[in-house]
Amino acid sequence: MYVAVMGYGTVGSGVAALLRKNHELIRKKSRQESLELRYILDLRTFPGDENESLVTNDFNLILNDSEVRIVVETMGGLHPAFEFVSACLAAGKSVVTSNKELVAAKGMELLRIAAENNANFMFEASVGGGIPVLTPIIQCLAANEISEVAGILNGTTNYILTKMFDEGAGFESALAEAQRLGYAERDPSADVDGIDACRKICILADLCFGREVAPDSFYVEGIRNITETDVEYAKALGGVIKLVASAEKKNGGENVAVCVSPAFIRNGSQLANVSDVFNAVLVRGDAVGDTVFYGRGAGKMPTASAVMADVIDCAVSMGETKPYGWSEAPDGYVLPDDEFTSRFFVRAACGADKVKEVFGSVQQVSFEGAPQGETAFVTELTDKASLKKSLADLGEIRSVIRVTDY
Ligand code: HSE
Repeated sequence: MYVAVMGYGTVGSGVAALLRKNHELIRKKSRQESLELRYILDLRTFPGDENESLVTNDFNLILNDSEVRIVVETMGGLHPAFEFVSACLAAGKSVVTSNKELVAAKGMELLRIAAENNANFMFEASVGGGIPVLTPIIQCLAANEISEVAGILNGTTNYILTKMFDEGAGFESALAEAQRLGYAERDPSADVDGIDACRKICILADLCFGREVAPDSFYVEGIRNITETDVEYAKALGGVIKLVASAEKKNGGENVAVCVSPAFIRNGSQLANVSDVFNAVLVRGDAVGDTVFYGRGAGKMPTASAVMADVIDCAVSMGETKPYGWSEAPDGYVLPDDEFTSRFFVRAACGADKVKEVFGSVQQVSFEGAPQGETAFVTELTDKASLKKSLADLGEIRSVIRVTDY
């Protein structure tokens, strides 16, 4: 059996390297007499690379080669990845991808095309890099009613926030360090503005709850506005701030509340100690309780590990489509942001008396050297519409950060 890789960047070259390094065990586990890489699709050339001779810029070579049964898509982006992947599936080839943008936007359609052609579309590497999380959700937690899935899904922002907490760095200098180390792109917006985490929580919600959550259907906020002062308050509160992506069933499963935003997590939570570029995903099932999946959420070889596991699965299940996926959601399935309910940490430029007048008795937070002329506090459980109304009475608001219960 032959395999092709589309996109010879960090992940694609990791896939080729892993297939070469662990070739015999991968072949055996795939139950194939042979399993070889035949093409690498890329517009660039790679003089001197060990796979130089496999590189082509002609997609049709892959599409029209009937011996290529599994195609790995590691190009990233929506186009032409979507067109290439759908053409491969329509030709009966199985496709494995690490491309979360593609899965979040087009996963349902691509799973349908795969099923119509007795092929598989697999994407373990699209969430949590090397962490096994999607397959355990689909298989090991299959008997659970899942009520919530949440996590730290972006390594770059987690690295930045860890620097801010552990070393007192400001956002800009922590970002510069992340860029220097190659974690953050030159244009870091997909990571720091929460877009990457948004795509990943969509995929998790799709699989956990069986209905499609569109990436543009809920509130997404990144970490650009987190300041050193917020960090000090979080420490005083006994916790950390993480970029948390969450999806929670509401109204008996009729709705889902989805959000990506910075969030306060108390020390002692399993998510509080997830540092640097590591990711963690918490899944709350009615039988199993809380389970947390932890590991390297990005990187060449960890991500290649997840891709190759799917390749092996595709090889073993050749000719038989795996029975998972999700369906279109009815209008109004994702709750509007105004109905999102949480406790919130607030910094307001007013006195404690004013806060008490508007919110009643709330937990106040302070630390030595806290800014003068402001009151910081944690609200009771409230929905965002009520919160906004109350905050309008307090004057200038300096921070609003949700407080999780994980
Ligand atoms: N940019 C992503 C991150 C890579 O930092 O987590 C993996 O999706």
